[in-house]
Amino acid sequence: MRPPESKIKSHIRQFYEQRYRGESGGARGLGGKPLAVELGYPPELIDSIPGETWEDFFPCGYVLSALDPKGGDRVLNLGCGAGVDSLLVKICARVEFQVVNLDTAFSALVKAKRAARSVSSGRGFEFICADGGSIPFEPGSFEWVILNGVFNLFPQKEELIEELHRVLKPGGIVAGADLCRKGILPGYFAEEPDAWAWCMSGAVTGEELTRAFQARGFTHLGMAAENMDEFFDRAVFTFRKNGFS
Ligand SMILES: C[S@@+](CC[C@H](N)C(=O)[O-])C[C@H]1O[C@@H](n2cnc3c(N)ncnc32)[C@H](O)[C@@H]1O
Repeated sequence: MRPPESKIKSHIRQFYEQRYRGESGGARGLGGKPLAVELGYPPELIDSIPGETWEDFFPCGYVLSALDPKGGDRVLNLGCGAGVDSLLVKICARVEFQVVNLDTAFSALVKAKRAARSVSSGRGFEFICADGGSIPFEPGSFEWVILNGVFNLFPQKEELIEELHRVLKPGGIVAGADLCRKGILPGYFAEEPDAWAWCMSGAVTGEELTRAFQARGFTHLGMAAENMDEFFDRAVFTFRKNGFS
């Protein structure tokens, strides 16, 4: 049986706090540079930031090709972790814009801040410890949201999508990646707290994900799915909030 939502969320918060503090033993090996290579992060980008910055990287896909911030834009990296995607999007850009790193795990933000200082003296970055279900920003604050390995951590998808819709400007874009389930998952997934934290138990199908965004007023721009194993695909997706800015 699925645990109550509050228990799932508090387990996920603790799980990542421990990981970013280095208290989780060998499980770190599940992410990092090898995963970035596997997911198709371009080699020149991989080499553009210090090696140790990759240690706490837990993405589900390469979402950055969908991002094209203009001067003065604001990008929210929701569930930023150690902030690797935030660094990379800055490194690729030729214009000045702001990246807000938001995560529930305080220890992730400590790492993200240190990494940001190492590549750009921290200029153009903000760091916020908050729950993505209640983003502490005014409506229409962002042109872009990065959501890499975070969608499935929300037992209530509508709550998250509502917040994304609220904080994006009309025409703003969500660039995300996560696991999508291929069919009905065996019951043990829902019961296993760590399977929630690894983005498995909260997975929906690609069609369900698309329908949920469309139902809240987003246009589907694209979804690319790759086979991961018998239960899951890895999907990279983009949605645009309807309306013009
Ligand atoms: C799978 S990791 C991905 C981290 C990062 N996006 C990356 O690619 O390395 C999930 C991240 O989401 C954060 N997170 C989990 N639940 C969250 C929530 N409700 N609000 C904000 N961040 C959350 C975790 O602390 C963790 O850093």
